[in-house]
Amino acid sequence: MPFGFLKDISLKNDRLVVGLDIGTTKTCAVVGEIRPSGKIKTKGPFSEEISGRVLKGGFNSTGTKDRGFNIIGVGVADSKGIKKGVVTNIESAADSIKEAVQEAEKMAGVDIKAVQIGITGGHINCLLSQGVIAVKEKEIGRKEVDSVIDAARAVAIPFDRDILHVIPVGFAVNGQKGITDPRGMGGVRLETDVRIITAMAMSVQNLIKSCKKNGIDVVDVVFQPLASADAVLTHDEKDLGVAVIDIGGGTTDIALFQEGHICHSAVLDLGGNNFTNDIAIGMRIPTRHAEILKKTHGCSMISLINEDEEVETGRVDGKTGRRIPRRYLVEILQPRAEELFALIKEEITGKGFHKGLNSGIVLTGGAVLMEGMDVMAENILELPVRIGSPVGIGSVSDIIYDPAYATGVGLAFYGAEESLTERGFEGGNMFDGIKIKMKTLLGDALNLRSQ
Ligand SMILES: Nc1ncnc2c1ncn2[C@@H]1O[C@H](COP(=O)(O)OP(=O)(O)OP(=O)(O)O)[C@@H](O)[C@H]1O
Ligand SMILES: [Mg+2]
Repeated sequence: MPFGFLKDISLKNDRLVVGLDIGTTKTCAVVGEIRPSGKIKTKGPFSEEISGRVLKGGFNSTGTKDRGFNIIGVGVADSKGIKKGVVTNIESAADSIKEAVQEAEKMAGVDIKAVQIGITGGHINCLLSQGVIAVKEKEIGRKEVDSVIDAARAVAIPFDRDILHVIPVGFAVNGQKGITDPRGMGGVRLETDVRIITAMAMSVQNLIKSCKKNGIDVVDVVFQPLASADAVLTHDEKDLGVAVIDIGGGTTDIALFQEGHICHSAVLDLGGNNFTNDIAIGMRIPTRHAEILKKTHGCSMISLINEDEEVETGRVDGKTGRRIPRRYLVEILQPRAEELFALIKEEITGKGFHKGLNSGIVLTGGAVLMEGMDVMAENILELPVRIGSPVGIGSVSDIIYDPAYATGVGLAFYGAEESLTERGFEGGNMFDGIKIKMKTLLGDALNLRSQ
């Protein structure tokens, strides 16, 4: 039964999936509902009523179709006890989770008992492995596919790391490579190449403990860029080759997709908070004022602003703020943006991945909202760039169409994908049905550590 675990999520409804994005700056809980009936309109924005809730559709120029999935509740809280994607104080993180979850429960009218969480940070690793088995049956079936993936995941993983995902990127039958789904084929030898994504066990445990403090179980731990990608990418983009770059508050997560699968990932310890800190230090103003100034007047390129523009730095301790040329602000922000995109370029072009990115770059995460980020990305990375926000998903709240919510929405959608793929909605691909996820965290997270 593919979605048996959904029953745990709500006491009232077994079609619900909850994504919990415990980010550096905000914690957000997103309650998603797999739409009960068949497909609805697939063109343009829509508005419909389900269970008394008015839902709006999120469609954009990517032409993404309806995904058969609605967001029925969102809760957001400022993150505390999280630094660069890693829990630094369990009590504080638990408080932020509680606040976000309670708000989402209220909006959706459900009790949240279990969630899918995301994880990121410099501790995440991606490695390649191979598996091979002899096929005894006439035809390769699900059992053989599972066995060959198991063989591939049996590599030595250090005891202090957990496996998050084992993603098959291709199969070979009797030595013939390039097979995307071997089920139904005859052969005596089945091979697979997989990508294994691992995380520090302690980081995984601390996130789980922060949820458990509120009586919430974790059904899955998902590498965040995989979730963001699910929310903002089209199926075609993943097939043709695309990079999703999620620039959050504390980290920048990079995930590259080719032929439908992730082929490279990296996490940089740089994000929107570095821009804020630069302003605070450069202008000698409190961080909270720097944050407002960045969000209201920030820009990553001097060439995009007018010479005579002026901005107010904001009041400090009762004193009126200073008026300064906007140029001063942008002179602080531009070098940081250049540094960030140069590091991203090193990860993509420096490692030769740019050639396969036929669909270019999709920027997401809150920090990409700053003026000029997409233009600078295009100039430095020399690839087409678009800003991605969740699409093809109905929602009771417009807030989820902001790029900062890509991970939260993606986490909810990630959990629903298998069921939706079976029903023919856009979203997953053949591999989604056989991808191995960290599903059994409820009982004992450490079970998943490699043998
Ligand atoms: N309009 C804006 N202009 C500039 N920056 C913005 C804007 N809106 C949000 N940001 C920045 O985006 C960042 C937060 O993004 P996001 O919510 O995606 O991060 P997060 O998920 O909490 O963090 P992380 O993913 O790094 O753990 C903050 O640094 C914030 O200042
Ligand atoms: Mg984030």
